[in-house]
Amino acid sequence: MDLIEKIENVKNKIPEIQSANLEELEKIRSLVLGKKGELTTLLRGLKEVDEKERGKVGSLANLVRTEIEEQIQVRTKALQKEIINQRLENEKIDVTLPGTKHRLGHMHVLQQIQNEIEDLFISQGYRVVYGNEIESDEYNFERMNLPKDHPARDMQDTFYIDSETLLRTQTSAMQARIMEKHDFSKGPLKMISPGLVYRRDDDDTSHSHQFHQIEGLVIDKNITLADLKGTLQMLIDSLFGQGHAIRLRPSYFPFTEPSIEVDVSWNKVDSSTEDSDIQWIEVLGAGMVHPKVLEMSGIDHNEYSGFAFGLGPDRFAMIKYEIDDIRNFYLNDLRFIEQFKQVKK
Ligand code: DAH
Repeated sequence: MDLIEKIENVKNKIPEIQSANLEELEKIRSLVLGKKGELTTLLRGLKEVDEKERGKVGSLANLVRTEIEEQIQVRTKALQKEIINQRLENEKIDVTLPGTKHRLGHMHVLQQIQNEIEDLFISQGYRVVYGNEIESDEYNFERMNLPKDHPARDMQDTFYIDSETLLRTQTSAMQARIMEKHDFSKGPLKMISPGLVYRRDDDDTSHSHQFHQIEGLVIDKNITLADLKGTLQMLIDSLFGQGHAIRLRPSYFPFTEPSIEVDVSWNKVDSSTEDSDIQWIEVLGAGMVHPKVLEMSGIDHNEYSGFAFGLGPDRFAMIKYEIDDIRNFYLNDLRFIEQFKQVKK
């Protein structure tokens, strides 16, 4: 085969170029035009060609090289365009499609009630303190006037971690922690302490081994039971609306003297309502802080007095929304939770 024929042969690569992909194009380029490529090798052999023929062969070789280069360039451009079009196609967004709906959460009904109570007391100048769910026997019991052998300990069957550490059974545990640190030269002590408490109860419609409490404590000079009653009436008015009377019944808690239990009239009461028509529901325990409790925290009971109360947001929510099973609050069933999207007064 003479050189001309060989060069013409190289041209046969052109149809291959027209259907190659980018990778194949690169191979063809180096096979034909690379340093050791076919055409390059042929051109190197040009000096052996007869002088008369050399010009003709040389220009044919150049023509073929230009053509192949051109073809490769055309094909490369076409392929690149194809890739871009493909990407545009894949990334096309149909702005008319309906969007993905994001489910908006909301606060749990118990958190809503807790916030409502916190806001109310903050507006009356109270501090909010949270404390820890893991508490010592000392603060949960001893400092609340419940020594080790006190029978009232049985009322609060306890999850002990070790003999001196437990899951708090009452937010009252925060009372001594706050009292012992309070500086009365800066003003009276007014605090509420919301949080979870734990008891070894068998869960049923009205018992849960874990539930919420909000403790309230006010200590100053000349605090009386009338202050307590006024404060509780304010709380009930705010949570249930005006017109619900409260009734104080004598009771017993080791940390208060006197101790009371507080009932709220479920129906609204005015001067025309007969006593026998009133429907009472027990809502919380309270009392005047026991002198011994004050003394144990270094407060002189001859100079200072105070009131305390402990309420259950679970119970408040159950009454307010007529929920008949406390376990609903802790099951995380959305069918229940989503019924309480906002606080209704
Ligand atoms: N700690 C009591 C309980 O868990 C509730 C309570 C009663 C708290 C009277 C008080 C109080 O502060 O004065 O049953």
